[in-house]
Amino acid sequence: MNANPYQRIGLGYADHRRPDPRIAGLIDHALGSARTVVNVGAGTGSYEPYGRQVTAVEPSSVMIAQRPRGAAPVVQGYAECLPFPDRSFDAAMAILTVHHWTDVAAGLAELRRVSARQVVLTWDPVVTARFWLVAEYLPEIAAADARLAALDVVLHHLGPASVVAVPVPADCTDGFLGAYWRRPHRYLDPRVRAAISALAALEQEPVERAVRRLAADLATGGWHERHRDLLGADTLDLGYRLVTTTSRD
Ligand SMILES: C[S@@+](CC[C@H](N)C(=O)[O-])C[C@H]1O[C@@H](n2cnc3c(N)ncnc32)[C@H](O)[C@@H]1O
Repeated sequence: MNANPYQRIGLGYADHRRPDPRIAGLIDHALGSARTVVNVGAGTGSYEPYGRQVTAVEPSSVMIAQRPRGAAPVVQGYAECLPFPDRSFDAAMAILTVHHWTDVAAGLAELRRVSARQVVLTWDPVVTARFWLVAEYLPEIAAADARLAALDVVLHHLGPASVVAVPVPADCTDGFLGAYWRRPHRYLDPRVRAAISALAALEQEPVERAVRRLAADLATGGWHERHRDLLGADTLDLGYRLVTTTSRD
């Protein structure tokens, strides 16, 4: 259906993108009393809650192959065309996936069709643009972000919603773009960068230039000088937002 980058960059995802327990707690809370849950764009199974009946939907065979033994049953498919009758699930979850969908309006309409409650993890690009990696080293990320479906698009299609900030712990185990805000040296590792679609999708020449500049700033102490305030912080708001809606009957 689309040129899903995870068929290409998904290899090794499970090594660097381990679900973070604090973020998992927020997602679990947002799912409320849902007993049956469909996880759309499920990837390797991160954040699939325990103690609920979960069905996963994921297009990429590379990602499906990394689902751990004992993970929820998975259907190979796309958000835009979910193979389930109306209201099959108490809740649908879509975690850091909507921006990859070919037709976001259709995919979010499908979430509303098959579930009574929808929980979507996305981000607010206005806040993300202030993240030091973006603002000081790679403004190309903000430019690319502007073309992706993020918070405003999700809210537009889902309607009235509760929006909760998801602060990123300093030792976040899920290696998404903002995960290493207090561990800047981690961005120097090409394997870490390969597991972050926002970096893997960019032209690699400016990324490598930015990484060389970051390495130099870390070596001279310039980065630590500029970001002294971050070193004592335990969490940071980098714009990640959990959106929860309920479908009308
Ligand atoms: C960043 S990963 C997130 C995976 C998982 N939700 C997580 O939190 O680790 C994005 C996922 O969206 C999937 N994806 C891409 N296009 C999709 C589509 N049209 N419908 C459903 N999932 C899609 C990718 O294959 C990939 O597994």
